[in-house]
Amino acid sequence: MSAFQANSQLILALSKGRIFEDTLPLLEAAGITVTENPETSRKLILSTNDPDVRVIIVRATDVPTYVQHGAADFGVAGKDVLLEHGGEGLYQPIDLNIAACRMSVAVRNGFDYETAVRQGARLRVATKFVETAREHFAKKGVHVDLIKLYGSMELAPLVGLSDAIVDVVSTGNTLRANDLKEVEAIMDISSRLIVNQAALKIKRARLQPIIEAFERASKK
Ligand code: ATP
Ligand code: PRP
Repeated sequence: MSAFQANSQLILALSKGRIFEDTLPLLEAAGITVTENPETSRKLILSTNDPDVRVIIVRATDVPTYVQHGAADFGVAGKDVLLEHGGEGLYQPIDLNIAACRMSVAVRNGFDYETAVRQGARLRVATKFVETAREHFAKKGVHVDLIKLYGSMELAPLVGLSDAIVDVVSTGNTLRANDLKEVEAIMDISSRLIVNQAALKIKRARLQPIIEAFERASKK
């Protein structure tokens, strides 16, 4: 357990934006109100109305890392991020049904994906989600060269960096705006509550009521 939380404090790791916003009602259901706004404050450790509960603001992809190492007791992360992380040291108790989207393969309008796959062409695939993409194409028996990107995946096929992308899609607006089409849905994605395995044992009395409140509120 990290020195930062050697006391009885609970640390929750969240990312700014949709995960923070969608977790607020769940925290409220557990009687916890975050008293600072990460969009207007530069602070990375936010207080709540409960002096024993604090929220740390980290990048979405870093949430599992903070929880795995016990620097945060629990956190909220997308299934996409958790699959890339691998889940080591994490207990994943509940699907919170927030930040819902899907992981998909997309190509430029005009690119004949089906034929390329059928003919056994080697595809260049740009993505932030290399593990998920690797597994998907391996299952299909499609040979791919994976190109790791950290954002703006939609650009890759437009400038010839790749034939296809693997990215999350919600409304499809980003694909449409960039002359791309979704050709395969890989899996549904939503965010999960993850808990550090040691914290779950040591701080169970404090964590359990919050986990249960999240569970009830996320089913509504
Ligand atoms: P980072 O800031 O580290 O690059 P990010 O930009 O992917 O991460 P967010 O955009 O806040 O972070 O996304 C957080 C999670 O929300 C993702 O891991 C995914 O599960 C989900 N998500 C991503 N895009 C959408 C979307 N358009 N609609 C709904 N959920 C989404
Ligand atoms: C995500 C994702 C896609 C977009 C898909 O981007 O990377 O680009 O959402 O959503 P849509 O199908 O509704 O258009 P996000 O909004 O998180 O921006 P970011 O990647 O810059 O954080």
